[in-house]
Amino acid sequence: MKSNHDNGSTPGSPEYHVPVLLKEVIEGLQLKADGIYVDCTFGGGGHSKAILTNLGPKARLVVFDQDEATRKNLPDDERVIFISHNFRHLQRFLRLHKINTVDGILADLGVSSHQFDEAGRGFSTRFNANLDMRMDQRQSVTAFDIVSTYREQQLHTIFEQYGEVTNAKTLARTIVQIRDTVSLQTIDAFKTALREIVKGNPNRYFAQVFQALRIEVNDELGALKEMLQQTPKLLRPGGRVIIITFHSLEDRLVKNFFRRGTFDEPEKNPFINDEDVNELKVITKKPILASEKEIKQNPRARSAKLRIAEKVMMV
Ligand SMILES: C[S@@+](CC[C@H](N)C(=O)[O-])C[C@H]1O[C@@H](n2cnc3c(N)ncnc32)[C@H](O)[C@@H]1O
Repeated sequence: MKSNHDNGSTPGSPEYHVPVLLKEVIEGLQLKADGIYVDCTFGGGGHSKAILTNLGPKARLVVFDQDEATRKNLPDDERVIFISHNFRHLQRFLRLHKINTVDGILADLGVSSHQFDEAGRGFSTRFNANLDMRMDQRQSVTAFDIVSTYREQQLHTIFEQYGEVTNAKTLARTIVQIRDTVSLQTIDAFKTALREIVKGNPNRYFAQVFQALRIEVNDELGALKEMLQQTPKLLRPGGRVIIITFHSLEDRLVKNFFRRGTFDEPEKNPFINDEDVNELKVITKKPILASEKEIKQNPRARSAKLRIAEKVMMV
């Protein structure tokens, strides 16, 4: 797994966020001119804008982003509905807008280059700011709260599983040992307090540590799971769901859900064959990856994996 941390556009670059695998997303969605589509991760709106240019005047595009700051990227377009909430509430908000079913759903996970490049958000190891990392600033728990309150074992698991930090156990133990006497409130304080235990390249090391904290702060895997579970019922027959992931744990969730249509363990339903009840058909047996050319232009694309599933016509 490669971290998607801190390898996006440089600060001050004209692009807010370069959309990854854009052509593949547009082809994969098989857009219908009058369809209703959902972009669960609006961000800089790169994917949304390309979707809109391929839709007719009667179409609708519902865009979610839990980061209210993305509102300023909205195009002046009557076909767009913006929902500044977590996509884990997908169905609830669609219903609120009297939408029961849709023709396609897209999610391009993680954080945008812009979020990394805004120093005060605390996502990047390059700047000093509070150890924050909340995508949704209405949420109360920050990365600092996590390093201040989680038990050693919880921290160990997070650093190991979400960041693949080589010395996750030592890191967790050190944090718990020093946190009552040393401030970990800011990025600089956090990095200074832990500099003795860094393994390998410090930039890479802290990128992995930050990735782990970010995934926990935003409950990224929990939100993804809840959203995926709503997709089969929301899609119209023939409608497609496309998910772009940047982390092996996310990709595994998507792959397994598309294949089985459920997160329930098979042994819990010994008389039910998942394939008989799965309303989704896998379109991409292997994930679609970015070309070398795209990776050269946009290094963030290096770890992107795109998977597509389609709602079957009849189960
Ligand atoms: C990788 S960026 C998307 C970039 C976008 N596709 C583009 O072309 O500009 C991910 C965006 O999704 C948002 N996001 C991530 N997880 C979310 C969630 N669970 N609910 C709502 N928004 C989320 C982030 O705030 C961020 O703006």
